[in-house]
Amino acid sequence: MKIFLDTADLGEIRRAADAGLIDGITTNPSLVAKVAGKRDPKEIYLAICETVDGPVSLEVVGVDKDTMLTEGRKLAAIHKNAVVKVPLTEAGLKACRALVAEGIRVNVTLCFSVSQALLAAKAGATYISPFVGRIDDISGDGMELIEQIRQVYDNYGFKTEILAASLRHPLHVVQAMMAGSDCCTIPPSVLWQLSKHPLTDKGLETFLKDWETLGARI
Ligand code: G3P
Repeated sequence: MKIFLDTADLGEIRRAADAGLIDGITTNPSLVAKVAGKRDPKEIYLAICETVDGPVSLEVVGVDKDTMLTEGRKLAAIHKNAVVKVPLTEAGLKACRALVAEGIRVNVTLCFSVSQALLAAKAGATYISPFVGRIDDISGDGMELIEQIRQVYDNYGFKTEILAASLRHPLHVVQAMMAGSDCCTIPPSVLWQLSKHPLTDKGLETFLKDWETLGARI
């Protein structure tokens, strides 16, 4: 189970990378807009790729196949860790097929149905990103989509990795693991929430208090 951090915030990326807890990064235009200010996004992308030794998803913003291809090639050339992210549209699927043929890894994003995930796999996608939280937001069952894609990919031996996205809390991560997702991408806050348990805090407090009575050092 790979854990990717879903952010373009370099401070947060360094914190998680220093702890050795993440396998890669996913970004999207909204996440980049949050942190870029006046900086060129390409500088941020390069810095992220140099910080994390793993796949870093960088998203195209063109909507037609040719623009996606041009942008995808430029993004892939930034660093060997770059993975090109394309939206799950007809043009995105065509761009995916063409980029994969050039040896570029592709993450197909904005997936909301099993039929979309099937076409992404047929287009040779390296990753498919189903957006769990956004389905829950409209009273759907986002996790059911992960389970169904897992079953379809296993039934037919598709190699595309399921990258559960739009995960909003620790339970989402646990459910995605139970459903057999290959990867989860999570905001930094959720990563650190995964480590928290009130009984851990309570137990540690008691251990330290009891140790103090010894007046000893290790
Ligand atoms: O990176 C895409 C996805 O994780 C976005 O999540 O919370 O904006 O739906 P969210």
